[in-house]
Amino acid sequence: MNVGILGTGNLAVTLGRAWALAGHSLLVTGRNPLHASEAAAQMGDAASAVDPVDFAGRADVVVAAIAWEGLEGAVSLVGGAQGSLAGKTVIDCTNAVDYATGELKPASGSAADLVARSAPGASVVKALHLFAGASWPYVGPKETAPVVAICGDAQSALDLAAALIGDLGGQTAVVGGLASARQLEEAAGFVMRVVAAGHNPRLAVPDVDPASLSAAGTTSN
Ligand SMILES: NC(=O)c1ccc[n+]([C@@H]2O[C@H](COP(=O)([O-])OP(=O)(O)OC[C@H]3O[C@@H](n4cnc5c(N)ncnc54)[C@H](OP(=O)(O)O)[C@@H]3O)[C@@H](O)[C@H]2O)c1
Repeated sequence: MNVGILGTGNLAVTLGRAWALAGHSLLVTGRNPLHASEAAAQMGDAASAVDPVDFAGRADVVVAAIAWEGLEGAVSLVGGAQGSLAGKTVIDCTNAVDYATGELKPASGSAADLVARSAPGASVVKALHLFAGASWPYVGPKETAPVVAICGDAQSALDLAAALIGDLGGQTAVVGGLASARQLEEAAGFVMRVVAAGHNPRLAVPDVDPASLSAAGTTSN
């Protein structure tokens, strides 16, 4: 699959490397062509830098790995407002969180909502924002693989995101439609605050066996 990576920073490179190992081709773009070339080079032979104008047409799926401040501009750069991403799955990895306070920066809605508004017709999935890029690929036992909580409105897009997360070695928990994205994004602030307080966030959530519940209200892949 041609995975289009919108972004040229740390997350873009770590995800790109991991998906290259899984056999995907990577198309990398961003506001700075030199950064795109450097990021593609770090991902290896399966990756190439592409002009933002050509990006959407060549990508089977798009992964946004952009700083919050640049997110709207980045989607615009690849023609999102003109419908270039219509019909495509766009996976939004943005952490729109103030690292000092843990507060979510969008006053309402979410970063994923911004992507959906900026790219009419795209099927947006919120995913992969909670785990450091260095978590991937995960190569340990399946039972202890990271569970990536995702949300989105289109089943086909959720399935595609789950497949790509599976290629990273992760498991997927679908927690709702795109309206749940703010809750997922808030979770990043919660994790940061627990870490800042000196604790492992893994220990800050209850240990619940879903098999013991009759109706968990979530699905997993
Ligand atoms: N790093 C991780 O492990 C990780 C994990 C989960 C989620 N995330 C999220 O993924 C996104 C990318 O993180 P990252 O670690 O890859 O960040 P990064 O290394 O700083 O890269 C930021 C990317 O956003 C682009 N950008 C566009 N407009 C920007 C603006 N106005 N200000 C700053 N950057 C702008 C940068 O382009 P230029 O190269 O032109 O500056 C670069 O491609 C963030 O939302 C982050 O919270 C990161």
